[in-house]
Amino acid sequence: MHKITNYELSKRFSAEVHNYIPGGAHTYSKGDDQFPVNAPAAIVRGKGAHVWDLDGNEFIDCSMGLTSVCIGHGYEPVAQAVADAAFQGTNFQRPAGIELEAAKLFLETVESGDMVKFAKNGSTVTTAAVKLARAYTSRNRVAIAREHNFFSFDDWFISTTPCDRGIPAQVRSMTATFSYNNYASVEALLADNDHDIACLIMEPVKFDPPIDNFLHKVAALCKDRGVLLILDEMISGFKWDLRGAHNFYGVKPDMATWGKGIANGFSACALTGRADIMELGGIRREGDDKLFLISTTHGAETTGLAAMIATIQAFKQHNMIASNWARGEILKLKLQQIIDKHGLGHTLQLLGYPCLFVLVCRNASGEIDDVFRTLMMQEMIAHGVLFQGMLYPTWSHQEAEIDHIAMAFDASCAIYQKAIAAGTTAQLLVGKPAKAVFRKKI
Ligand SMILES: Cc1ncc(COP(=O)(O)O)c(C=O)c1O
Repeated sequence: MHKITNYELSKRFSAEVHNYIPGGAHTYSKGDDQFPVNAPAAIVRGKGAHVWDLDGNEFIDCSMGLTSVCIGHGYEPVAQAVADAAFQGTNFQRPAGIELEAAKLFLETVESGDMVKFAKNGSTVTTAAVKLARAYTSRNRVAIAREHNFFSFDDWFISTTPCDRGIPAQVRSMTATFSYNNYASVEALLADNDHDIACLIMEPVKFDPPIDNFLHKVAALCKDRGVLLILDEMISGFKWDLRGAHNFYGVKPDMATWGKGIANGFSACALTGRADIMELGGIRREGDDKLFLISTTHGAETTGLAAMIATIQAFKQHNMIASNWARGEILKLKLQQIIDKHGLGHTLQLLGYPCLFVLVCRNASGEIDDVFRTLMMQEMIAHGVLFQGMLYPTWSHQEAEIDHIAMAFDASCAIYQKAIAAGTTAQLLVGKPAKAVFRKKI
C-alpha cells in the first residue's frame, strides 16, 4: 500500500497554531499531543468518510469528528437544510418557528422525556441536568460513573480529573463517584440517609455491556431513594438506537442528555426529561422561585436545529441505525481476522459494539500501552486512515472504505507484530507517543 509522506504544510501549521490558540485546538482530544507526529495537523475538507489535510493527503476517517458526524462529512440533505435555514435567518428576537417543530420531532423520535431544551454543547445540557436535579431534590451532590471519561467541561466534572487546576477544592467535594456495573458501589453511596446526592449521571453503555440488570436496578434504587437518574446519551444516542441506548436496554431515566451525533456534526444538543422536573425551568408557575435553566444566545440557532431535523429524517428514511450496525459487524469481523492472522490476539483487542468500538493496544507483556497505541496510529495514518483508536461505522463507510481500513490495518499489524517481537517500538515509532488527555502535568 502506498504510504503518505508529504506533511510540509502540516508541519508549518503545527509550528504556528500554538502561538494563537492555547492547546492548538478547541478540543483537547484533537490536539497534537494526542497523535503521532505523522498525523495531519489540520483537516481542510471532508466528503462522506473521506477527509483531506492541508497537504492534500486523503484519509478515511474513523472517528468522524468525535463521533458527531453521524452520516458523513458534507452530507448533502443536511448541508442543504442548513443552507436553507441560514438564508431564512439564524437568530431572532423571539423564538424561531423551527424551535417548536424541532422539539416535537425530537421528543417523538427519541421517545424519552416529555420536554426538551436545546443547546449548542453537550456540557451545557449535562450541567443543566445537574442543576435541575439539585433544585428538584433540594440536595447538593452529584454522583458520576468513574469509568466514563467525560460528562462536561464544567467544574463539577473536571474537578474529578487530574486537571483540576483553577477549580476551588470545595467544588471537588460536591461530586461523588460510583462504578459502572457495580451495583454495590451505588448502594453504598446512597446507604446513608445524609448522602446529599441529588442525581446519578452515567452513560447507559460504553464498551462493556450492562451486566446483571445494572441499569434497571440502579433506576429502581434511585426511584426508591428520591435520587434522579440522568443517562448521558451524548455518544450512545443515534448509535445503539435512534431512541438512545437507554431505550435499547429498556430503562427509563428521569433525564437524558444528547449531542454529538444528532445533527451530523452541526451544533445541536438536547436535554430531555420528565415534565415535572423540566417545568422547574419554565415560567408558568407564577409566584414560584425562578430556576435559570439554559439561556444562551445561540442555543436555538436555526441552522443547528435544521441540521438535526434533516439528520433525523435521513436516519429514518434510510434505516441508518440498522445499516451502521451491519457495516460495523463486517468491519469488526475483518479486523478480528487480521488480528488473528498476525497472531496478535493477546495484544490487540476489539472492545465494544459493532455500532461503536475501540482497539485496545497492549505491549508484549499484555499491558495497555500508549506507546504501542501510538505506533498503531502512526501506521494507520501512514496508510491513509485517520485513526485514534475508535471505529465508528456510518452510512458513509461503504464497502470500499471498510476494505481500505482493513488493508491499512493489515499493513499496520505487520509493523505492530515486529514491535511486539522486539519488545519495543524503538526504531519503528517516530517522535513522541500520544499522551492521556486528563493528566496532571503537560
Ligand atoms: C459522554 C459525554 N458527555 C458529555 C460530553 C460533552 O459534550 P460537549 O463536548 O459537546 O460539551 C461529551 C463530549 O465528549 C461526552 O462524550
